[in-house]
Amino acid sequence: MSCGQNIHNFAFNSPNGEIIVNIFEEENHINYNVLYKNKYVIAKSKLGLIFKNGSTFPDQRFSKSFDLDFYSSVWELPWGETRKIKNQFNQAKITFKNHQNIKMGNILFRVYNDGIAFRYQLDAAISKGDSLIISDEITEFTLAEDAQSWWIPAYTENRYEHLYRNTKVSQIDTVHTPFTVRYGDNTHLSFHEADLKNYSSMQIFSENNILNCDLAPWPNGDKVRMELPSESPWRTIIIAKEAKDLISSNLTLNCNEPSLVKDPSWIKPSKYIGIWWGMILGKWTWGEGPRHGATNQRAQEYIDFASEHGFNEVLIEGWSSGWKGLFPKDSVTISFTKSTPDIDLYFLHDYAKTKNVSLQLYHETSGGTKNYLNQIDSAFSFLNKLGIANVKIGHVGAKLDKKYYHYSQYGVSYFRKVLQKALEYKIGVNFHEPIKDTGERRTYPNMLTREGARGMEYNAWPGGNPPNHTLILPFTRLLGSTMDFTPGIFDLLLENIDNHNNDEFPVTITVIDSGNGYTNLRFKSSESIWIDKKMNFTMDYVDGKEVKTWTIKENFQAGEWEWGVTADLPDLGKNNIWVIESLSDKENRDLSINILGNITGENVIKIPFQDLNKANPDFVKGYPASPVQRVRTTISKQLALYVIINSPLQMASDFIENYKDHTALEFIKEVPVIWDTTIVLNGEIEKYLTIARKDRKSKDWYIGSISNEDSRSFELGLSFLEEGVYQASIYSDSKQTDLEEKPDLYDFTRKVLTRRDTLKVNMTGGGGQAIQLIYLDKHTDF
Ligand code: NOJ
Repeated sequence: MSCGQNIHNFAFNSPNGEIIVNIFEEENHINYNVLYKNKYVIAKSKLGLIFKNGSTFPDQRFSKSFDLDFYSSVWELPWGETRKIKNQFNQAKITFKNHQNIKMGNILFRVYNDGIAFRYQLDAAISKGDSLIISDEITEFTLAEDAQSWWIPAYTENRYEHLYRNTKVSQIDTVHTPFTVRYGDNTHLSFHEADLKNYSSMQIFSENNILNCDLAPWPNGDKVRMELPSESPWRTIIIAKEAKDLISSNLTLNCNEPSLVKDPSWIKPSKYIGIWWGMILGKWTWGEGPRHGATNQRAQEYIDFASEHGFNEVLIEGWSSGWKGLFPKDSVTISFTKSTPDIDLYFLHDYAKTKNVSLQLYHETSGGTKNYLNQIDSAFSFLNKLGIANVKIGHVGAKLDKKYYHYSQYGVSYFRKVLQKALEYKIGVNFHEPIKDTGERRTYPNMLTREGARGMEYNAWPGGNPPNHTLILPFTRLLGSTMDFTPGIFDLLLENIDNHNNDEFPVTITVIDSGNGYTNLRFKSSESIWIDKKMNFTMDYVDGKEVKTWTIKENFQAGEWEWGVTADLPDLGKNNIWVIESLSDKENRDLSINILGNITGENVIKIPFQDLNKANPDFVKGYPASPVQRVRTTISKQLALYVIINSPLQMASDFIENYKDHTALEFIKEVPVIWDTTIVLNGEIEKYLTIARKDRKSKDWYIGSISNEDSRSFELGLSFLEEGVYQASIYSDSKQTDLEEKPDLYDFTRKVLTRRDTLKVNMTGGGGQAIQLIYLDKHTDF
């Protein structure tokens, strides 16, 4: 339908009629509001852009005309959570012309059954030159109430890697999108953007109930530098009756351009293991040295394991020469074609080939985009030579090239450039420290997965991810997006870290407290990335004082080590004290072990009696006790995450030794990474979630349920299954499973089920359940 008329108030609706958008002029602005099921979900909100030269778009003097069209199509995802996606919407185009009847641009507005989207389009005539600088967006999203919201802060050193906070909208910081809110009547909205290219990304801040668009700046404060004609990304709002419906929305993907790849057969989703967890735990190093993780020997062991258990790929991190640590102080020197002397990638490629396994390599740019882009052709040709299908590309560091936010226009363009190059070389991409997902995988199906949130690695470090973290991600960061979360840790209490070395030497560490009353001494060392380990003590009395000698016997590899101890001091009410800080010699303890096992350095410290009770109370610094370092889930939840978190590259991230002879590995081996259908069966943000997915290559289904720190049980109806009989393999928390003490206990049951059955799901706190349903036969009379 074409109206071609001036607007004062124009209304149009979603194909099913449930969402209505009004667009109207008021107070010299174009405004919009949105009704869902006859209630305002977005009240009057302004639209528009402000340019550095002071002008705005649209200018109130422009004439406006309005066209309305209905679109409907179905398109296919070459891999992903579902095969077919329906793309159906009404689109209004408001065209703006100046007094000479020259077109200046448009605002496009779409209404889908699951939300709305709008974008600004600027014609070349809007500016005298061929470029324009945007200094701000007027765009508003006015909420109907001070909703509950889940958010992570923008403009921090850790990019998107934060625990989510849950506050009223009026209390948010400037936050990243997707930004999800819940109204009192349980309607959920999620604000985001789609088709983000040649633009800087949108963050959101609030003024009372009004959400404002914030654009990430260039170092000089410009927000977007545009070559005309150009357009903004789509500003999107998913509108859902309840939380679980957010996850089923395809709005972000639908607001991206169709695929650039006609024949996607070269794109290789995969399940992989790799040389990684040992570096994250501090057991091995990325860089060269005696503890180097990426050696020929270790890579061969991983290739053998992958081959035996049907994994497609082995990831090798830290293979590059020139690695100067994750955060090099000066320039980034890492090479993407030369390996360290102890690893030969050609040899390993040939070896892997005989075992039907491929290599996956890591490119750690350390945020040095200039260094990476300079080498990108040779780097990708090298991958081609090694027959490598997929590359993980990391960007640690607070800013790219120490200057640009990862989500600034520079960052957006950089990530697109790399993706485009990868497309030319037919390489699948897994970005770490990425730009957020805005649905690029529709256009670039080689954009397989990314990090961009706190993944498994955080569980190796103090603090870790609490059980509710994976119950927030699917309703926020993961909406429409894949993630390389790297689940599959079986040594949940990190008890077996010391079992993964070939050459280790025992060292006894001793700390003598000459009567200060320290309790609960804990050894910490970079040998296992400062993991707390309890020390034992013996007690003597010397001059009437209790002298405690604390010891621990640790296995060290050859190399340089630092160690220290923390303790509690109940008399002063202080905990988690870094004991070394209260000594006159505040250095950490250094140890060096040569390849023959000879130890030099300090393995004993004596803490003199300091009469701390009389000292200035600030002399001893206590710190909040951080939770014990570990992975805070049960093993069944680890398995369920393979269904909950959608990623065409799924890692089994633990040391291979922890999988040997472990029966739960069977589920990881079986679970697919690409799906025909996805159904969200239940879900409440931060609490619980159940997703069922059907395999692309068979009639089998997989179901994952996960819980936060609370235990819960419910019944699951299986009416979504096809008519017929399925063999169910169920991995669930057992009665004895206990998140704190026994997280690795699980029950395995096998049953025959049909669509007429219901299943009881029992999850302990931090638990989950994973089910494989193998289609046996269409006859139900078994
Ligand atoms: C952080 C990434 O998330 C992790 O996967 C990687 O191992 C390290 N950086 C080193 O590149």
